[in-house]
Parts: sequence; structure tokens; C-alpha cells
Amino acid sequence: MLVLHVAVVVLMNISWIAAKRPHILFIVADDLGWNDVGYQNPDVITPTIDGLAKQGVIFQSSYVLPICSPSRSTYMSGMYPYKTGMQHIVIGGRQSVCLPLELRTLPQQLKEVGYATHAVGKWNLGFCNLKCIPTYRGFDSFLGYYNTQEDYYNHTFGGYLDLHDGERVAREYDGQYSTHVYTNRTTSIIEAHDPDQPLFIYLPYQSVHYPIQVPDKYADMYPHIGNEGRKKFSGMVTAMDEGIGNITRALQDKGMLDDTIILFTTDNGAELLKYGNNFPLRGGKHTLWEGGTRGVAFMAGAGLQHTGIKYNGLIHSIDWMPTLIGAAGAPQAEVDGVNQWDSIRLNQPSKRSEFIYNLDDFHIPTQGHAAIRVGDWKLILGYPGESDGWTKPMNDTKDTALLYNIYSPGDTPSYLFNITDDPREFHNVAYQHPDIVQKLTKRIQEYRLLMVPAKYPAKDPAADVAAKKNGNAWASGWC
Ligand SMILES: *[C@@H]1O[C@H](CO)[C@@H](O)[C@H](O)[C@H]1NC(C)=O
Ligand SMILES: *[C@@H]1O[C@H](CO)[C@@H](O)[C@H](O)[C@H]1NC(C)=O
Ligand SMILES: *[C@@H]1O[C@H](CO)[C@@H](O)[C@H](O)[C@H]1NC(C)=O
Ligand SMILES: *[C@@H]1O[C@H](CO)[C@@H](O)[C@H](O)[C@H]1NC(C)=O
Ligand SMILES: *[C@@H]1O[C@H](CO)[C@@H](O)[C@H](O)[C@H]1NC(C)=O
Repeated sequence: MLVLHVAVVVLMNISWIAAKRPHILFIVADDLGWNDVGYQNPDVITPTIDGLAKQGVIFQSSYVLPICSPSRSTYMSGMYPYKTGMQHIVIGGRQSVCLPLELRTLPQQLKEVGYATHAVGKWNLGFCNLKCIPTYRGFDSFLGYYNTQEDYYNHTFGGYLDLHDGERVAREYDGQYSTHVYTNRTTSIIEAHDPDQPLFIYLPYQSVHYPIQVPDKYADMYPHIGNEGRKKFSGMVTAMDEGIGNITRALQDKGMLDDTIILFTTDNGAELLKYGNNFPLRGGKHTLWEGGTRGVAFMAGAGLQHTGIKYNGLIHSIDWMPTLIGAAGAPQAEVDGVNQWDSIRLNQPSKRSEFIYNLDDFHIPTQGHAAIRVGDWKLILGYPGESDGWTKPMNDTKDTALLYNIYSPGDTPSYLFNITDDPREFHNVAYQHPDIVQKLTKRIQEYRLLMVPAKYPAKDPAADVAAKKNGNAWASGWC
């Protein structure tokens, strides 16, 4: 019995080494717009991001949800948010809800094939119960915050400190800019890591979500931008880029860089009112327009056979979990996403021709929305969300965002675009193609049958009681 057991362990170890599983660095930028990286907009200083993107595969049609928690739920679960109850806005600090505990997460699956797993940065997938926090969802370690935003230096949100090292409140980073804190933690993890064990780091930076804060030296790199907000915002992007540079150097120094897959994506389009920019795409964060959902993303590193290319195939954020599991050579779970690893690595057509942008019936008609992509066609039913328009980066001393909203209650009128022909969503062709509208509406209705109600409870005062008891730091243990 004992002998058998030992034999199995040895065998597992051998296959584990033989498979040479790649290290995986999964970087998420927060609210970074289509026009906020140097390789799309030369006014933004991002030498590391540009270098990695240009030596890797730049995704031209990589879609995300229009806002934070829903996108993050897809990275961890591979499931459409409308099927897990995560489709409505973000998880608030006082809402007793988290990413459903029955879902098996990406790090849980990677751990099973031997990965060390670490999370550094923004969680935003719930924390009211200890079982909700990263170290109970498959991560060996976590340094970061639970909520959707906070001050970059004092790490407080809504009156309480939100910085946690595992289960412990981390008070020792007061006054340190979060990009430095998270970069330093990540390089420390790499320095302490045994390169023979596959490593998975999930690094959802706080950058570049508002509040707009950055050390002067980064903003000062943009003397030609007159607008204070855009200048600081650009500096925030550059600080993050420097962090990614430090991390790739740490991987290099450790001899791990060539064995590492780096996936970089934003979680949604830029918040136009907070100095981000999605030009030439339409609309911003919160919306189903391309500016809210077509994300900046690229992959670089180990295993890619065709690099220095732009990949046009459709990818949805639900695909990243099965794709990374595919790259790791680990067993796949049954999820909504598809494994795009071969498509990306070999520059083959995407395995996807259709996806749901989001389905959210929570506050019809004022906040609910629905949209689908099938081939070239995109159909939006009802309210696409605000803000709308095609704004250029603010460059003047004044805020120059020109925002206007188109409000349409219920499911009509609908918007139909041939995105291949009209990626900027200028020409609504719904009236020319009633047959396509009808066909895609029917398809949305089929998907709607699978929708679960949004988990979006009222604020619970128990959150405050728990935070106060925790020395004015956000705490678990109240649901
Ligand atoms: C943290 O900074 C914010 C400004 O971003 C301020 O409103 C808040 O009072 C500060 N909190 C502490 C504890 O210093
Ligand atoms: C980085 O982290 C290490 C160990 O966690 C610490 O010793 C060092 O002072 C930190 N450096 C900076 C610049 O924060
Ligand atoms: C990157 O490393 C340099 C050199 O150690 C350090 O000065 C800088 O603060 C680091 N940048 C970030 C964003 O952590
Ligand atoms: C902003 O204006 C400056 C000076 O006119 C110009 O050099 C720069 O290219 C402009 N940048 C953008 C983003 O329009
Ligand atoms: C969409 O537009 C492209 C480019 O004009 C065209 O090639 C394609 O046939 C159109 N798709 C459909 C479904 O009509």
C-alpha cells in the first residue's frame, strides 16, 4: 500500500517535470483604454509594454465585460457573468456576496498540476466570508485590496483601510504608492521562487483606475500635455509600465523569462470622465460600445510560434482561463470559455465566432443591457450605457471630453453594426436588416434562458461593524 503510494507520487512528479509547464504571469490593468498604451498611441510612454507586445501577439478583438467585477469573475472562473450572478456592476464593500464558492478557480486548477500560485493587487470578487478571499480561492499568497478602488497611498476606501497580506491587515505600506508596493511584492515572489516549480502570478494592478494619483516624477514625463488629469493619468500608465519592466527583469535575472507566458489585458475600456481614452472606438467603461468592451490585450513569451503579429480572431475574457490551462497542459474543466491556446500560439483562426457582451436585466430599463456578437454582426438591445461618443485624449488645460448619452428604454430601438466594416459603430444598420435583428434577438433570448438573477444585495451594516472591530480595516466574517 505504502509502496504503491510512493510510486504514484514519483510518477506524478516525473510527468510534472517532463511536461515543462510554463510559468504564467497574468497582468490586469484597471480601466486602461484602447488609446492608453504606447503601441496604439505614441503619446503614452510605455516602453516595456510596447516591447513585449511587439515581440508577442497583439490582440485586436479581445473582449472584456464593461466593468471590473464581471471581468475579474471571468478570469477566475471561465464563466459568463450572467450565468454566475456576477453580471451587474461591481461587488460593493458592504454587499454580502462573492464569486460563487462552488466555482473552481483558475489557480485551484493550476495548483492541482503543481503550480505555486500568487495574487497581487485588486481582488473585487467579494470578501464578506473568509472563504471568499484569494487565499481560500486557490492562491498560496495575496497582497492587495478587496474593494473596487481606493487611495493609492493610504490604501483606504470608504473610511477603512483595505490592504491585506493573506488574512492579515497590512498597515505597513501606509504612504507607499501601490504600483511600487505590488511590483516589489511580485519581484520578491520571483526572487524567492524555485524555478523548477511552475509559477502562476495573477497581478491585477490598481493602475490606472481613479483616483488619479501618481508621484510627480511620472507625470513630469508629460510636459506637453496641458490637462492636469490626463498628464497624471499618463504618468500612472508609465509607472505601471516601469513596474512591468522591473518584473520582467526579475524573471530574466532568475533565468525564468524564456519559460514564462505573459498575458496582459485591461479589465474594461477607459473611464472617459477620469482621463482615460478609447479613441477611435465609441463609448467607454460601463457601456456595451466597443470602447467599453474591446480591451487592450497581448500575450508574449513561452510557446508562441508566431510573434510580432496582430491577431484579429475573436477572443472573450471567459477564454483566458481555459487558454492558460491549455498552455499549462492541465486538465480542462467544463466552462463557457474555450481554449484558444493553439489558435494564438500557431496563429490559427479563433475557435470562437460568437459571444455575449453581457446580459443584465437587473435595472431594466435604466441600467439593464444586452448585446451579442455573431461573426461580423453586433446587436445591442436597449440601453448601451454611458458615456457615449468618440472623444480624443484631453490635451488642453481644460477637460475636453465631449460626452453625450443616448437613452433608449426597453429593448428598442436596437443597434446593429457590421463590426468588421464599422468598428467605430458609426452606422446603425438595424433598419436595413430587420431579418438579422430578428435572428440575433432570438439568439439573445436563447441565452437569456440560462441567465441567473444578479447577486446584488442591499448594503449590509454588518460590514461596518466588522471593519470597526478590525481596527478600521475592511474585514471578512460577516456573511
Ligand atoms: C486617504 O486619502 C484620502 C484622499 O484620497 C483621504 O480622503 C482620506 O482621508 C485618507 N485617509 C487616511 C486614513 O489618511
Ligand atoms: C521590497 O520588499 C522587500 C521584502 O518584502 C523589502 O525588504 C524592501 O524594502 C522592499 N523595497 C521597496 C522599495 O519597497
Ligand atoms: C523599479 O525598480 C527601480 C530600481 O530598483 C525602482 O527605483 C523603481 O521604483 C521600481 N519601480 C516600480 C514601479 O516599482
Ligand atoms: C498635445 O499638444 C501638444 C502641443 O500642441 C502636441 O505636441 C501633442 O502631440 C498633443 N498631444 C495629443 C495627445 O494630442
Ligand atoms: C461586413 O463587412 C465586411 C467589410 O465590408 C464584409 O466583407 C462582410 O461581408 C460584411 N459581413 C456581412 C455579414 O455582411
